[in-house]
Amino acid sequence: MTISATPSAEAAYRAVHARSLADPQGFWGEAARAVEWIAEPRAVFDPSLGAYGRWFVGGICNVCHNAVDRHVNEGRGQQAAILYDSPVTGTRRRITYSELLGEVRTLAGTLRDLGVEKGDRVVIYMPMVPEAVFAMLACARIGAVHSVVFGGFAAAELAARIDDAQPKVVLSASCGIEPSRIVAYKPLLDHALELAHHTPERCLILQRPELEAAMVPGRDIDWATLRGSAYAGSRGVECAPVGATDPLYILYTSGTTGKPKGVVRDTAGYMVALRWSMEWLYGMKPGEVFWSASDIGWVVGHSYIVYGPLLAGCTTVLYEGKPVGTPDAGAFWRVVAEYGVGVLFTAPTALRVIKKEDPQALRMRDHDLSSLRALFLAGERADPDTVRWIEDKLKVPVVDHWWQTETGWAIAGNPLGIGALEVQAGSTGVPMPGYRVEVLDEAGHPVEPGRTGSVAIGLPLPPGCLPTLWHQPERFAEGYLTEFPGYYKTADAGVIDKDGRLTIVGRTDDIINVAGHRLSTGEMEEVLAALPDVAECAVIGVHDAIKGEVPCGFLVLKSGVDKPAAQVEREAVAQVREQIGPVAAFRLALVVGRLPKTRSGKILRGTMKKIADQDDWTRPATIEDPAVLDEIAETPRARGVSGEKLDA
Ligand code: COA
Ligand code: AMP
Repeated sequence: MTISATPSAEAAYRAVHARSLADPQGFWGEAARAVEWIAEPRAVFDPSLGAYGRWFVGGICNVCHNAVDRHVNEGRGQQAAILYDSPVTGTRRRITYSELLGEVRTLAGTLRDLGVEKGDRVVIYMPMVPEAVFAMLACARIGAVHSVVFGGFAAAELAARIDDAQPKVVLSASCGIEPSRIVAYKPLLDHALELAHHTPERCLILQRPELEAAMVPGRDIDWATLRGSAYAGSRGVECAPVGATDPLYILYTSGTTGKPKGVVRDTAGYMVALRWSMEWLYGMKPGEVFWSASDIGWVVGHSYIVYGPLLAGCTTVLYEGKPVGTPDAGAFWRVVAEYGVGVLFTAPTALRVIKKEDPQALRMRDHDLSSLRALFLAGERADPDTVRWIEDKLKVPVVDHWWQTETGWAIAGNPLGIGALEVQAGSTGVPMPGYRVEVLDEAGHPVEPGRTGSVAIGLPLPPGCLPTLWHQPERFAEGYLTEFPGYYKTADAGVIDKDGRLTIVGRTDDIINVAGHRLSTGEMEEVLAALPDVAECAVIGVHDAIKGEVPCGFLVLKSGVDKPAAQVEREAVAQVREQIGPVAAFRLALVVGRLPKTRSGKILRGTMKKIADQDDWTRPATIEDPAVLDEIAETPRARGVSGEKLDA
């Protein structure tokens, strides 16, 4: 079913968006009434603070109170807060808001006993288990700043985040479970702590029955033992008063250099924006079931597995499984039917993998999907074929919406809670309140509708978006605010049509998107360049039918290297996995004689990508030696690989 739009929805949306820009204080001041405050802010927005102003200055509040305690106080204690569904362990668990409160109060007390105070950082390196959600909320409860690290990263990546965040305590588990293997998290943590310069005082370890971890005496503490004694001793603590502009969490994301960027999320702005989005973007009411099939290690998981649904008094599904293989391509439809999911949110790559296994969607027929009202997509470009396929099969509105770790919630989408707008497949819809989205040319001037350029957001950013990077305000200014003065640079390229619909066409930097995961090719190049046999290298993202893109590394060997090229290639693949992690999905390294460069020495990555993707390409006039491009074109072909086949 395509979205049935009404003219009144278009007018209502336009009025909402126009007001949010004309009267931001009035708009967000009203939205903030949905939140319970300990002390009201003295200013909805203060333009004199921070890099571009700060929201809800002077307010005092607590996110955990609004996400948990408040619902129990208001009579939702027996409603399910979390539905944990883990096909990889064969476990299901229904956790009510009252039970969630008990767990979070107790864990917050435990953290306090371990010396964690307001403002201290806590790194959470955990699989998709309820304890990970308890941990995030327990930090919020005492005003500690959590930093969740995705399980698919290697020890070196975890170490870099530990060094940057300097946590007092690390919360982890013995293992994560992938369909093909058990991932021993604890040895990765131990290795990370060997690599890191910073040493946390304690590590709280959740032992999972699938794999018991060895504990380091004096540092590691058993989660279950401490939980038991904390419950027995009634060690629970109440919500701490937290400043509206205090950080709630740091979430690291890929930047253009090897050092990840610590995106800071503040407290009240995030809460207000998420509450608004749950009602007006996703169209959710308290008591309904929302399922974001992502991972708590990503921003989507932070905002729409944990905080958004719980702030709105909804039930959230925590799914420890995959779209296929756990056990089959009907897994998503089983979960929707079993829990009565109203709105599902996933990445297009998940649908592409389901479509590949079950192109007729026959497995949908085994399940009653009548509860499902809408499907939201984000994380990467949603190709129109996939959008149309799933619209046809599910017969509910399918909404592509665009956002970034930095923004914390959607920049553009289709606000179903206001009323569905007509949006063509391939477009990510219209700007959400507070976002003045413009497409700029290289000189920073807005281009006319229909022309592609750099997508930028006029300052100030709305509530929920990052105020800065952790301990790196200069990097924030340089990376986002300097190129286009008065704007935030998204580093995405896109086009706005005459009706105000936005289409994102790709990145303007070296970030690639692999299965909805954001990765830096620059970071991979740093790993490859450090290999003893490699003189120089280039990594590009090449098209992949399932993952959207996968990385492909071209290596030039140092003169005199007499190892077989295949051996260096294998070592390169292993090293990226070791240094960055399996999530990089780096499986293709190709030794070549030379890299194509301009006369000024710049590697022509854009042309290499076009060649690898078998797109039309022309020889750039500035190329140093045109023959190199033929060699580059020949290498993947000689190996029998193309973008489509890389992952086969
Ligand atoms: N812990 C440890 N390892 C992990 C992991 C985790 N939490 N998540 C993924 N990995 C590993 C995988 O096992 C895989 O390892 P392998 O190379 O040994 O096979 C590797 O990282 C790459 O993972 P991924 O890119 O996810 O590929 P996949 O083949 O396992 O799964 C999809 C493909 C499409 C099913 C999967 O990527 C998916 O569900 N994507 C949805 C994306 C998403 O949720 N994005 C968030 C934004 S909405
Ligand atoms: P992340 O910070 O990991 O959420 O990745 C953000 C990036 O993913 C964006 O800058 C885009 O490049 C891409 N992205 C996210 N959502 C979409 C979308 N709906 N359409 C196109 N690209 C998207």
